[in-house]
Amino acid sequence: MAERPNPRKQGKSDVARAARLSVAPMMDWTDRHCRYLHRQLSSQTLLYSEMVTAPALVRGGAVHLLAFSAQEHPVALQLGGSDVDELAQAARLGEQAGYDQIDLNCGCPSDRVQSGAFGAVLMQSPGLVADCVAAMREAVNVEVTVKCRIGVDEQEPREALPAFLEAISNAGCGRVVIHARKAWLKGLSPKENRDVPPLDYALVTEMKRDFPDLHISINGGIASLDAAQALLAQGLDGVMIGRSAYHQPWDILADADRRIFGLERAPISPETAVRRMLPYIENHLTQGGRLNQVTRHMLGLFAGRPGARSWRRLLSEEASRDGAGLETIERGLAFISEAA
Ligand SMILES: Cc1cc2nc3c(=O)[nH]c(=O)nc-3n(C[C@H](O)[C@H](O)[C@H](O)COP(=O)(O)O)c2cc1C
Repeated sequence: MAERPNPRKQGKSDVARAARLSVAPMMDWTDRHCRYLHRQLSSQTLLYSEMVTAPALVRGGAVHLLAFSAQEHPVALQLGGSDVDELAQAARLGEQAGYDQIDLNCGCPSDRVQSGAFGAVLMQSPGLVADCVAAMREAVNVEVTVKCRIGVDEQEPREALPAFLEAISNAGCGRVVIHARKAWLKGLSPKENRDVPPLDYALVTEMKRDFPDLHISINGGIASLDAAQALLAQGLDGVMIGRSAYHQPWDILADADRRIFGLERAPISPETAVRRMLPYIENHLTQGGRLNQVTRHMLGLFAGRPGARSWRRLLSEEASRDGAGLETIERGLAFISEAA
């Protein structure tokens, strides 16, 4: 009998293909409105949620944090936690909410996260991470992935990272994102931990040679599609971009479908992206939302173009006012066309 395609496997490989380029999980930044904007710019790029903690979902009942629009697919939910059963339950809630992938955060150095014994500190407990991954995989059909650092504190990355990758691959994790710098859990703030420890791209590239079957994405300091393409050309499977994608979404995402995914698709202009956001924003306002909840993610859309500063200033100052609506955006667009 001919083998029928397995829709589950099909779905997984689609998401793995999307992971050739992803926008990083960023707390307070990559909320559903941000992802909706990014999706207008690229139909293919994999988008991540902010980190949601497993205790908040399972014990706090905060399932409202999982809501998103169907247009955001493919979209990954990132979980924080270290309790095996709780993570499995949280993963199940994520799958039920419709996420295409569930990711475990092993890279975030913030104090709050350390006190709950999860995030980057988990790099020191590969066995526990493997147990968490195995339990999450058991709980869901969508792919379970890990985002990690190259090491923490006194760890020697050349020893710690392969041991960590070995443990999670043995537990069935087939895809990982490596933020190519260590996290210093004591002495550096979360913000410093994104800039101060030096990047080691060579080590991540080496890991791809040592773990050829593991889908490895590199993250940290990648600020253009040129840089992303150069890293992909070195054999890495994917590139994850955080701050640059947030601050210059058009520069990073608008030509990604063509340059990274090989689609014959001309980039839309930033003005068109704004116009495509209008029905979404109108709907948000009708439901009692505020304009700046969406437009705060749009401040950098015109970065580097004439009128960008006026656009940014207008939205920063006026979109948070009571009753601010679509006319504020129209005024911003008028600055852009006047400047051009
Ligand atoms: C505001 C902000 C919030 C972040 N929140 C998370 C998070 O929730 N989970 C996570 O794994 N990483 C988080 N990160 C780290 C990013 O995912 C990414 O690893 C880091 O910014 C390095 O990539 P970049 O140099 O391209 O920005 C955050 C980064 C920023 C700037």
